[in-house]
Amino acid sequence: MTALLEVSGIAKRFGRVVTATDVSFHVGAGEVLGVVGPNGAGKSTMLDIVNGTQRPDAGRVLLDGDDVTSLGAAGRGRRGIGRTYQVPRPFGGLTVFENVLVGATFAGGARGRQAHRAALDAIETAGLTHVVNTDAASLRLLDRKRLELARALATEPRLILLDEIAGGLTEAELPELVALIARLRDAGLGVVWIEHIVHALLQVVDRLMCLAMGEVVATGDPHAVMASPAVMEVYLGSVAEGGA
Ligand SMILES: Nc1ncnc2c1ncn2[C@@H]1O[C@H](COP(=O)(O)OP(=O)(O)OP(=O)(O)O)[C@@H](O)[C@H]1O
Ligand SMILES: [Mg+2]
Repeated sequence: MTALLEVSGIAKRFGRVVTATDVSFHVGAGEVLGVVGPNGAGKSTMLDIVNGTQRPDAGRVLLDGDDVTSLGAAGRGRRGIGRTYQVPRPFGGLTVFENVLVGATFAGGARGRQAHRAALDAIETAGLTHVVNTDAASLRLLDRKRLELARALATEPRLILLDEIAGGLTEAELPELVALIARLRDAGLGVVWIEHIVHALLQVVDRLMCLAMGEVVATGDPHAVMASPAVMEVYLGSVAEGGA
């Protein structure tokens, strides 16, 4: 069966910094792939390559079996790829609704009443109805994270890429976010979720991939990946070097 997303043989470097060496993975509809790895492993760059904000030096990105490697981010957005960013960047001075409408209109390609509807649905799904008319600049962190998610959902994606959406949240705030990601999966979306908070990831991911220095260290059953000697070495190594 054709995977929703198939990434094969990706290589990418910025000058002397190698962020990907022959990275391959796939994600199905209704599946959550978790991604872990030390700081600088190349995780966010991999999402950039999947959503088209960066071009790989080698390798291919297939969506539903179609090669989208040469398509830009706007084209991939219209083809059903949504993305949140590690550092939320809402438009201050615009309300939550206006921010999400921008997502629906420019990234999602929707117009008029259809865009309006998509924005309101995304706001409700992300749990932001209580602040729909609030200036995005004044939101607390949890709601800024929800806004990132709502802006991506407003494009009505089939594949959603989440970059540390739980980072900075309190323990009490995590279960709600995990439940929301599970609902997206149950609605049939494919999800790629990069996260350092491993216990939150393990509650919802179907498979886990560990990246380090641009290479796939392990992929597969989440608990087996975390327990594998190669992954333990990556983490112990980064602790020994004083990293995260
Ligand atoms: N546009 C760019 N130009 C130059 N170097 C870059 C660029 N983007 C990323 N890098 C470098 O590539 C490496 C991988 O960065 P990336 O952001 O993908 O890591 P990450 O795994 O997401 O890390 P973190 O867990 O800290 O978010 C880093 O060394 C980073 O400095
Ligand atoms: Mg990152």
